[in-house]
Amino acid sequence: MATVTIKIKRQNPEISGKDKPYWEEFTLKDVDPTDRLLEMLHRIKWEQDGTLTLRRSCAHGVCGSDAMRINGVNALACKVLMQDVGETIMVEPILGLPIVKDLVVDMEPFFDHYKAVMPFFVNDDPVPENGRERLQSIEDRESFDDTTKCILCACCTTSCPSFWANGKYVGPAAIVQAHRFIFDTRDKASQERMDALAEPNGVWRCRTIYNCTPACPRDIQVTKAIGEVKLAIRRGSPTGIIKAIG
Ligand code: SF4
Ligand code: F3S
Ligand code: FES
Repeated sequence: MATVTIKIKRQNPEISGKDKPYWEEFTLKDVDPTDRLLEMLHRIKWEQDGTLTLRRSCAHGVCGSDAMRINGVNALACKVLMQDVGETIMVEPILGLPIVKDLVVDMEPFFDHYKAVMPFFVNDDPVPENGRERLQSIEDRESFDDTTKCILCACCTTSCPSFWANGKYVGPAAIVQAHRFIFDTRDKASQERMDALAEPNGVWRCRTIYNCTPACPRDIQVTKAIGEVKLAIRRGSPTGIIKAIG
């Protein structure tokens, strides 16, 4: 059991005097190495300061709602063990999105980018003869398997310097979502998605900085997926690209 110090970057734009970011320090005793950071933030809120504001839902790395910057690196607080972050921990909101309060940011701009890539299956062909399924080979299904794992946590997009510099950049999360459908051989809207991403604030704003890939809590190969989308746009088609890259 250890005593830890958690420094939290706080802000409440609605209250004068707290409308600028400031750091507040909390001390917690009896912290177990296998406690998770999210539990510690709960302890602060429930035992010391009920005004501390954060977002979370599942507490099991599934919903993606508790992304935050922990010791300078984006992660989900529910997946971070105390033994991995030391005894003095800095916790900040993710960068590049407007602050609502403390660790809660406005996710609307993030979801606007998500919507822009048509993140849904499009196929208006008649229902196949089997009456239920649009069949696909195992190999074709594997070509977008990695990008189906995205939970829209925004850890990638809000760790991208290109996004920090220009919030209009669609960002890696939206490109990952587009990849999931562009490389699905059953889908019929790949060209529309590639056209949307060929715009000035689309994929070409990615400078291959690679912050996004290590930030992903689902271990998605984000930069690789972006590269595959870039190549598909260059060639005018996603066909054959995954097989060619391997
Ligand atoms: Fe989160 Fe990874 Fe999806 Fe980015 S690609 S939103 S980091 S799950
Ligand atoms: Fe940004 Fe990732 Fe590209 S960090 S610049 S989206 S490789
Ligand atoms: Fe759902 Fe952490 S609370 S992913």
